[in-house]
Amino acid sequence: MWIYLNKRFVPREQALVSVLDHGFLYGDGVYETLRAYGGRIFMVRQHLERLERSARLIGLQPPLAMEEFPPLLAEAMRRNELADAYIRITLSRGEGAIGLDPALCPSPTLAIIVQPLPAYPARYYDEGVPLIISRTRRNLAEALPPVIKSLNFLNNILAKREATAAGAYDALMLNAAGHVAECTTSNVFFVRRGRLCTPSLACGILDGITRNVVLRLAKAEKLDCDEDVYREADLFAADECFLTNTTMELMPVRTINDQPIGSGKPGSLTQSLHRAFRAHLPDYLQQRPGTLE
Ligand code: PDD
Repeated sequence: MWIYLNKRFVPREQALVSVLDHGFLYGDGVYETLRAYGGRIFMVRQHLERLERSARLIGLQPPLAMEEFPPLLAEAMRRNELADAYIRITLSRGEGAIGLDPALCPSPTLAIIVQPLPAYPARYYDEGVPLIISRTRRNLAEALPPVIKSLNFLNNILAKREATAAGAYDALMLNAAGHVAECTTSNVFFVRRGRLCTPSLACGILDGITRNVVLRLAKAEKLDCDEDVYREADLFAADECFLTNTTMELMPVRTINDQPIGSGKPGSLTQSLHRAFRAHLPDYLQQRPGTLE
């Protein structure tokens, strides 16, 4: 496995980061998860723009310009002989003396890891996944804005631990006001009386790229869409529910806290939106691999 680390590709065994890296010491950094289909990256520009925005929001200057990333990502896939790939870009504050001041770190650490896609079992899509509503609330936007895709992921990890302990696939997190926010690594949608509903960005969630694609697709299919504020009760009254992220696409939800959602099976709108997503996939992929286009 070849990993890009600070200007060069090295074998995995040599891809080592200092214990004084502020990403390790403080979770001071940002990241992106991307996906390639047949060597073409899904929504590459949007992912790199979000990386830049996350970095800007923590006052971190990426060591590469946006246009310099796609050739590197292509090279990382080529070296690892992967065309269908999971791509992780990690950008940390870099190495520096212990202390919170970012000025202690003269150069950021940039790593690109490319590996085979996680295999979601087919039954997750055929039957849907079980969720719980976690007691861990999503980070307060005024404290650590969820729009920053930060390396500090403990908020989500605590919720994921609850899900695992309960035998669920994942945990739905509410925000501090008790409104539905998102899952630990995905956005949530539900369907009620034919309307597609998802928490608005103001609820304090990551501005998911798949979420945006699904909303655009649904509007193009003339579906009524609402981005609003929802409570747990809205989820339990839903006819269908599904999750979105770059690696899972659309994942149906079967139960929440052991209560079936709708029929307790993947809903028809969820399935037709996923089919439409797949049909339109070529529009969302790079036309010219190694570039932003
Ligand atoms: N997670 N919400 C959270 C908290 C996330 O971490 C993610 C992405 C999403 C969905 O975003 P997108 O559609 O842009 O992938 C929503 C990635 C997959 C991860 O953490 O690896």
